[in-house]
Amino acid sequence: MQYAQRIDEQSSSNLEALLAAPKAGQVSFAGGLPDPDLFPEAELATGFAEAISQSGDTCLQYNSAAGYLPLREKVAQHLQRSGVPATADSLMLTQGAQQALDLIGRLFIDPGTNVVVEGPTYAGALAAFNAYQPHYLTVPVRPDGMDMGILKTQVQQHDVRLVYTVPDFQNPTGTVMSLTKRQQLLALAEQYDFMIVEDAPYRDLRYKGVTMPSLYELDHKDRVIHVGSFSKILSPGLRLGWLSANPELLTRLIDLKNGADLESSNLMMRGIDNYLQANDLSAHIEQLRQSYARKCQTMVTTLQTNLPGNVQCSNPDGGFFVWLQLPRNMNTETILATCSDDVTFVPSTTLYASGADKSGMRLAFTNPSVTEIKRGAAILANTISRAMTGAVAQAN
Ligand SMILES: Cc1ncc(COP(=O)(O)O)c(C=O)c1O
Repeated sequence: MQYAQRIDEQSSSNLEALLAAPKAGQVSFAGGLPDPDLFPEAELATGFAEAISQSGDTCLQYNSAAGYLPLREKVAQHLQRSGVPATADSLMLTQGAQQALDLIGRLFIDPGTNVVVEGPTYAGALAAFNAYQPHYLTVPVRPDGMDMGILKTQVQQHDVRLVYTVPDFQNPTGTVMSLTKRQQLLALAEQYDFMIVEDAPYRDLRYKGVTMPSLYELDHKDRVIHVGSFSKILSPGLRLGWLSANPELLTRLIDLKNGADLESSNLMMRGIDNYLQANDLSAHIEQLRQSYARKCQTMVTTLQTNLPGNVQCSNPDGGFFVWLQLPRNMNTETILATCSDDVTFVPSTTLYASGADKSGMRLAFTNPSVTEIKRGAAILANTISRAMTGAVAQAN
């Protein structure tokens, strides 16, 4: 069978495996799954039932590629509350943030186009962009966001069209880009003529500290496309995300959405709109914050207590992920192979565009219970300690 050339590059994505439910007895820190106990099931059920019973004739009809206007208005209000000055007219609703990334890739990336990604980065963004065969330039992530010195060198040396970043509680490292770096990034975008994709599905999930201005707010030159989603703050099964962009880009992205799937599900958009009309999303997010903050603290404390001193464990201010950085000679894929009956995680190999760095691991703390986190993190720390003792013994 003759496939398109790009297919080989795409087949390395293992996202499906990442999002699979854990096996019996296994604690999964792998997929970035929310806690299902926190889904507002009854309230969503009411919203969907009302959509059908009260406006079945319209909500079962086609709507528009930009998405149901009242829902765009509510998403805009929500974004404005968290410092993202989007409006109903700057927004398009998408099938999750993932579709927004795909459409952005479609708009900007030709085979060989230079695209800057963080190292490590969100594997799903690589999977989305891979379809358009970019040439990736990787900029390392520091504790305060991407390394601006290295970014500057990259954009000086290469004709970069797109920089993809997750500035708030980055997937996978959990880091937040500092205000200074946000300003530097925007200045570089203007100087070297590239667009920034600000992918921010974790922005509302801050457990401590103060919220940073979004790149979208700081941008006065139309250099930023803001991407977000209900997946982490309501439910990923809804498959409802959005992007906000300047009018010219939005028109083009709406055209591309038409070609991709015409529009997002009208029934879904109306059901969510009813939910938001009758419920307080901010109060719901506050509940998530409290629960996830506790889980995060449990994971960090358990790991810090049990890990060897030369493993760096992040202590994120929000989001879904803790990052472990092992000494560079360690291979976390091998560690996963030894402990995967009991505990799973994402080794860094799949989180770098080059696949080259094997020494990190991403641990998602939101889905397992506090008890499971304690058990899984203790087993993991123990496995890492044994692997490191073995590695030292081998080196000797
Ligand atoms: C940074 C980032 N962007 C986008 C997505 C995709 O989200 P959605 O479920 O809205 O498609 C995820 C999901 O984990 C993510 O972590």
